[in-house]
Amino acid sequence: MNIFDTIYARKSVRSYTGNKISQSQMRQLLDAACASPIAVCRYENMHLTVVSDSVIMNAFEENDSRAKGQESHPFHGAPQMIVISVKPFESDLQNMEYANAGIVAENICLAATALGIGSCMIWGTFRRALANQELLDMLKLPEGFIPCGAVIVGETEEKFAPQKGRHCMKINSLGWTEEGKEINPFVNC
Ligand SMILES: Cc1cc2nc3c(=O)[nH]c(=O)nc-3n(C[C@H](O)[C@H](O)[C@H](O)COP(=O)(O)O)c2cc1C
Repeated sequence: MNIFDTIYARKSVRSYTGNKISQSQMRQLLDAACASPIAVCRYENMHLTVVSDSVIMNAFEENDSRAKGQESHPFHGAPQMIVISVKPFESDLQNMEYANAGIVAENICLAATALGIGSCMIWGTFRRALANQELLDMLKLPEGFIPCGAVIVGETEEKFAPQKGRHCMKINSLGWTEEGKEINPFVNC
């Protein structure tokens, strides 16, 4: 797949066979994650955790169910996840940390798509987990790191076909002129 096909084929997969991806596939996802741009080049403030242990996955799901007051399966049956953690510049998570984590997550999702692997970003579950130190300890993170979110991954029967225009955002344009008149040729996606 070329880069545009991969971008347009990427989608959130919420249906998994339960089979794990191979070690070499996981390595490729992690390499893609490490290739992400990171604010002020602080790669040392980023940490990735590969979770292939159903006990840990279940503990996060149970915490989510408790926090929401109803049964919750935020990992959609995926057998593995890559948790993206950051060491905050200050005491709390700020926009840079979330931006860094989001970019890493998207690189993982694009690489997964190129390999035909299912993936989906999971964020709210990790925000709800922040209040449960015992749960966070299961991730065995280095001192000072906080999880921002994760990408669940796994084998899927879903197919990946480029679907350009599946989503749309409103766009305005400033200073693009034609025959001296301001126009917005980008109004539709
Ligand atoms: C920051 C972020 C957090 C997300 N968290 C979740 C989540 O917790 N659970 C989930 O099923 N999808 C989650 N998603 C996936 C979005 O719902 C999905 O990207 C959106 O609906 C567009 O669909 P698509 O990814 O198939 O194009 C998240 C996406 C982002 C960018």
